[in-house]
Amino acid sequence: MVQMLEDRFGRVATDLRVSLTDRCNLRCTYCMPAEGLDWMPAEETLTDDEVVRLVTIGVRHLGIREVRFTGGEPLIRRGLVDIVRRTHELGGVETSLTTNGLGLQRVAGALAEAGLDRVNVSLDTVRPESFRAITRRDRLDDVLAGLTAARVAGLEPVKVNAVLLRGINDDQAPELLRWCLDQGYALRFIEQMPLDAQHGWHRDAMVTADEILAALEAEFTLRPAEEPRGSAPAELFTVDGGPGTVGVIASVTRPFCGDCDRVRLTADGQVRNCLFAREESDLRAALRGGADDHEIATRWVAAVRGKRAGHGIDDPTFLQPDRPMSAIGG
Ligand SMILES: C[S@@+](CC[C@H](N)C(=O)[O-])C[C@H]1O[C@@H](n2cnc3c(N)ncnc32)[C@H](O)[C@@H]1O
Repeated sequence: MVQMLEDRFGRVATDLRVSLTDRCNLRCTYCMPAEGLDWMPAEETLTDDEVVRLVTIGVRHLGIREVRFTGGEPLIRRGLVDIVRRTHELGGVETSLTTNGLGLQRVAGALAEAGLDRVNVSLDTVRPESFRAITRRDRLDDVLAGLTAARVAGLEPVKVNAVLLRGINDDQAPELLRWCLDQGYALRFIEQMPLDAQHGWHRDAMVTADEILAALEAEFTLRPAEEPRGSAPAELFTVDGGPGTVGVIASVTRPFCGDCDRVRLTADGQVRNCLFAREESDLRAALRGGADDHEIATRWVAAVRGKRAGHGIDDPTFLQPDRPMSAIGG
């Protein structure tokens, strides 16, 4: 029997974001400190079988139709291809991956063969010096090779996610869009959110959707895309008459919580009903305590039921969640 993951406001979660690790091989300044973080102990991390069991419950019993693997950096997870294959074999579920692209060159073909449908690669700049400044690593060429491999493997549309940082790459929006259009990648700008481990986010310093669009419109003609947005986080525009598009995910200045259809599972088996949730529901404890599928599904339903109407970033009482983005799964 399928029970939908419906909250008190009538929103139904059908899109599951699964974090496969909190570790990452980049150190993006807006995400984590140079020295990294205290990583999750191995015994607290779900095994591949545990991940697949929870995903199976989500798909078979709770109406999940899309599963996106993320992290941390999901390509670090050894069992990734197998997890993707087993998820794909459940049938009726779209699978995708959010990655920084390091190592994608090697594994893109295997992922496509395992049934992965699409990939989003995070890339904030195509300038080597800006890439080094943002990620604290000299790996731009690896990311570009990963993007090419994704396209060759047919993991399309290949999307590129970019965050603009004031004084670092905020003057590069048109350049990045031109490059993505030339390469055939679908670019999405994401507003910087208060989810960094260092708690260094400031509303006044973030680059807003309005600024991004103004910078793009100085060089391109943007028109709101005709396709209905639905629950997609990105506001989509056609560029210079199409077919190229660009998206802006304005989580802070134009929140889209009313249409949210997402639910998250952390690498240590906690269900979060929102990126900004302050509560979690411990499915790992239930799983390891011998709970059956029905019991786990019931806990999951209750966790989503309690989802708040909005993320509340603008509320005076807003508190950043304890977990940073890298440990939630972006
Ligand atoms: C946390 S990463 C995890 C997956 C993978 N490592 C990657 O780089 O795509 C997912 C996305 O979150 C974005 N991100 C991280 N911290 C963010 C923040 N504070 N605000 C907005 N986006 C953020 C990254 O740029 C990336 O596009």
